[in-house]
Amino acid sequence: MKFKPVSDKMPKMLHGADYSPEQWADYPEVLEEDIRLMKLANCNVMSVGIFSWAKLEPEEGKFTFEWMDRLLDSFYENGIYAFLATPSGARPAWMSEQYPEVLRVVANRVRNLHGRRHNHCYTSPVYREKVQIINSKLADRYADHPAVIGWHVSNEYGGECHCPYCQEAFRAWLQQKYKTLDTLNAAWWTTFWSHTYSSWSQVESPAPHGESMVHGHNLDWKRFVTDQTLDFFRHEVKAVRAIKSELPVTANFMELFEGLNYAQFAEDIDIISWDSYPTWHDRQDESYLAAYTAMNHDWFRALKGGKPFLLMESTPSLTNWQSVSKLKRPGMHILSSLQAVAHGSDSVQYFQWRKSRGSSEKFHGAVVDHVGHEHTRVFQEVKELGAGLATLDEVVGTTVEAEVAILFDTENRWAVKDAQGPRNTGIYYERTVTEHYQAFWEQGIAVDVVDSAKDLSKYKVVVAPMLYMVRPGVAENIEKFVQKGGTFVTTYWSGIVDEHDLCFLGGFPGPLRKIVGVWSEEIDGLYDGETNHIKVIGNNELGLRGEFVAKELCDLIHLEGAEVLAEYGADFYAGRPALTVNQYGEGKAYYIASRNDRAFHQAFFEKLADQLSINRATGGLLPKGVSAQIRTDGDNQFLFLMNFSNERKEVHLSEQKYVDVLTGTEVSQTVSLQRLGVKVLKQQ
Ligand code: GLA
Ligand code: ZN
Repeated sequence: MKFKPVSDKMPKMLHGADYSPEQWADYPEVLEEDIRLMKLANCNVMSVGIFSWAKLEPEEGKFTFEWMDRLLDSFYENGIYAFLATPSGARPAWMSEQYPEVLRVVANRVRNLHGRRHNHCYTSPVYREKVQIINSKLADRYADHPAVIGWHVSNEYGGECHCPYCQEAFRAWLQQKYKTLDTLNAAWWTTFWSHTYSSWSQVESPAPHGESMVHGHNLDWKRFVTDQTLDFFRHEVKAVRAIKSELPVTANFMELFEGLNYAQFAEDIDIISWDSYPTWHDRQDESYLAAYTAMNHDWFRALKGGKPFLLMESTPSLTNWQSVSKLKRPGMHILSSLQAVAHGSDSVQYFQWRKSRGSSEKFHGAVVDHVGHEHTRVFQEVKELGAGLATLDEVVGTTVEAEVAILFDTENRWAVKDAQGPRNTGIYYERTVTEHYQAFWEQGIAVDVVDSAKDLSKYKVVVAPMLYMVRPGVAENIEKFVQKGGTFVTTYWSGIVDEHDLCFLGGFPGPLRKIVGVWSEEIDGLYDGETNHIKVIGNNELGLRGEFVAKELCDLIHLEGAEVLAEYGADFYAGRPALTVNQYGEGKAYYIASRNDRAFHQAFFEKLADQLSINRATGGLLPKGVSAQIRTDGDNQFLFLMNFSNERKEVHLSEQKYVDVLTGTEVSQTVSLQRLGVKVLKQQ
């Protein structure tokens, strides 16, 4: 299956950057030079207007679009396209002064002063009105402009507002959800510490100096923040769609962002896009970070069922907000950019085109440095990548077909981190999910990273690390999946609470218990550095061998139909089951009772992939530090080989013949990848 490109105007890999010409209005020579440089860098798209509100509406109701007219016309004349932003990410000073209600109120109930960005109240009627006006004006004027290919709605939505409007909206949201106060009190278990509400007006958002320990309350607030932000997004989209226009909308998401449940946005957004800033070169072995970044890509791709996403921002060289601003080593820019493409991106875009002259991002990486010309290392790498992307027209619209799903669930994540439980420093939900993911990444096995409510029927394996919260329907979904022959893998600290963060009574892992065939009686938290180990039982059905280190969390389980594959080696629970498998319907469910080291994940998931004949991109195992992905439209296969190590690596391919797309040359069966090398091969 092939998806349509973002725009028929530009059915190619998109390559470009955030562009802020409003900062250079007094430097007309810069604007002219930028067009020349954009073409030279093989760029074909720019995101414009993201932070331009004060230039577009310098006084209330007075609009100045001429500069934007000239910009877009000049783009079009030069074969450059644009994502046009709605400017709601930062507002003009006159607005905050005239209408303080647009300013966000923080959790301590103090209203922000004007400044910074991403700090509006998403409920304020005035802010909504002002956004509606500017968005519809932009749509009226530019929706049909031949250079415009899509709406870049706002910028990196996030954060929360605790103003009186938001409190009202939160209460209304709760009333709608619970209908009666009794139901709310029961769901939040408010009898604890005598926190029972006797009137709706007593309910407020969580606050550092007020209510903050009621988990059900915290969860509902987070859900409300997602819904209210989504509602604001819909309000923005309605305005840009007021005139009939086919332009797709996107809103740039952030790396593993926790503040919003992105899964809720998937239906409303036409194209998923995200901003990726890995701290490359911060350790000897890049594998974990490369896998973590790949996991993000797979999460964003899976949000819309495999539809290609856009890498909306990345840095061509360094950031200036991480603790150390390390340069990308030669090769890493091309490798990490093509990694995004390998995992389903139809673009490589940057923050930013040109370094600003002043203010807080003047030292953030850009295609064009303060020196102002193209004779820089970074510009040349960008240009080279652009030339490479131009050879990938056929890849546009292809997808990644995954047989494996890993559940990475935002609501579960909120709950597991909020609970005071077996490890209050070091529950490590994200790291745990990544470590499970990494075992597939190392084998070149494609994975969809999905919310637990997702339909699982198309997968062969579903892995659910720490599925602490099991919302209604989720266990039923998993049960159906296993009954029909699927393989389910879950771990300790799963099946503990329902959607209100109320514990399942009658034995953990709650509704998963019969599927995994074990009862978890207790869980042991180990101190940092403390270890146990697990010993694999001889002749187990997976062919797994040896001993593995267990750390941090050890679940003490009883068999209820499951078979033991490994047992604990030490402590008072030595000899008790540590890894089990249960036959259920036509499928199987594995239960990993302890948090194990990387060697376990590697060995376990390699055996599992062998047993279930899961597709590996190259048909075989890969050298350390190398990963591989396939993008396909069902007929054509594009194999991406990526070497994240600092050494040359040889990759052996199975029988088929390939052509190197970037160079147009034939490829032998053993491919040599230089350090940080990447190849895109088309199967013949
Ligand atoms: C975010 C923002 C950009 C810029 C970059 C810097 O992704 O969207 O405006 O601040 O970070 O890395
Ligand atoms: Zn508010």
